Amino acid sequence: MKVNENIKKRQKYLLDKIGNNSIAIVFAAKEPHYHRETISPARQDSDFYYLTGFAELDAIAVFIPGRSEDEYILFSQEKNPQEEQWFGFRVGQERACKDYGADQAYPLSQVEDMLPALIKGQEAIYFNMNDHDDQAAIMRWTQALQHQERSGINMPTDFIDISKITHAMRLVKDSEEIGLLRKAAEISAAAHLRAMQACRPCMLEYELEAELMYEFIKQGGRVPSFEPIVAGGANACVLHYSQNNAELKDGDLVLIDAGVIYNYYAGDISRTFPVNGKFSAEQRAIYQAVLTTQLAVIEAIKPGVEWIELQRLSEHLITEQLLALGILKGDLNDLLAAKAHQPFYMHKIGHWLGLDCHDVGSYKEQAIEDSWRKLELGMVLTVEPGIYIAPEAADVDKKWLGIGVRIEDDILVTENGYEVLSAAVPKTIEEIENITRISN
Ligand code: GLY
Ligand code: MN
Ligand code: MN
Repeated sequence: MKVNENIKKRQKYLLDKIGNNSIAIVFAAKEPHYHRETISPARQDSDFYYLTGFAELDAIAVFIPGRSEDEYILFSQEKNPQEEQWFGFRVGQERACKDYGADQAYPLSQVEDMLPALIKGQEAIYFNMNDHDDQAAIMRWTQALQHQERSGINMPTDFIDISKITHAMRLVKDSEEIGLLRKAAEISAAAHLRAMQACRPCMLEYELEAELMYEFIKQGGRVPSFEPIVAGGANACVLHYSQNNAELKDGDLVLIDAGVIYNYYAGDISRTFPVNGKFSAEQRAIYQAVLTTQLAVIEAIKPGVEWIELQRLSEHLITEQLLALGILKGDLNDLLAAKAHQPFYMHKIGHWLGLDCHDVGSYKEQAIEDSWRKLELGMVLTVEPGIYIAPEAADVDKKWLGIGVRIEDDILVTENGYEVLSAAVPKTIEEIENITRISN
């Protein structure tokens, strides 16, 4: 196996960023304590995977800038034929250097002895502050140096959250990440198309979920990005509906929100279509309002645009269209000022997408007003407006009640605009009716 050059570049960036007299300690996900014979393994920590490409749990990566040529040290599980016979292959220390590019590799069992010596003389320790056990380990290793203070050893004084650096890095995807996100979007799209074609009145929601899962796994994505949402009729008005056990009724819409994880990267697509292949007049009107909004927001995407502008545009367009349909009443500016869309569109326009489905990276550059992040070449985000008219919505003509529509695509920011990574799933009313219309 060849050492991954993209990962080397990420490590180099991190080393440069933290600078001399610093150490970064990055923890892998921990092997779950419950019995491993019956539970599938936990997923690797995304930051750890991003910086190492190392999928094995129970590992610690240490980065020390300027430490001659040995700047990257990996602690991981030791080879153990008996354990490997039961629980699978371990990379071990030799291959950690050869295949994963570690400058030095040690068994995890040596970490308690070695880490205090590696920390010694550093001013700053960078680590992810999210985990209590990890925090405790950092304190333990630091305090192990305390008795050496009279020998002239200074304790580290700066404890810095490394996620400020790693999460900013992860916002802009490199070419390898874009390739994997493209593939995740393509498989997710194929799964949606399959579910659209399979849908018939009287099926159960989970039967469509099975179609999605079949396509995911068939194409190499064993795990969905989140519990798939297959929501018939008014179930679509529950944003995180996941029971998926109701019957799909002739005359209803079905909202599917699902995506796959491909090689650690997430896809996330929503489509809404008629169970019987034909939109009613009301369904058509709401669908078109959401689609018009989604297309306009996508069209606005290019480097330099602030993320919040997409949010505001979606709120404006949905309010305007709810007014045109008579679902909202009054003056447009008053309705906008009152955020009158919120009972019908209560979530955000989308989120960053990457190793995590709701990917890391702040939406504001600083914690002050008017510092919303500008889109940059290589960022990937979802655009997913929706309109949900709950069955019990007050002051709404009953013909609209129980209609819920969301349309979601995965978008790469390009030099001059955008690329829709999930474009292969039909989206216009005509395309959808052509695909789903039941021929008999
Ligand atoms: N269902 C999660 C999302 O679309 O963000
Ligand atoms: Mn989604
Ligand atoms: Mn999403």
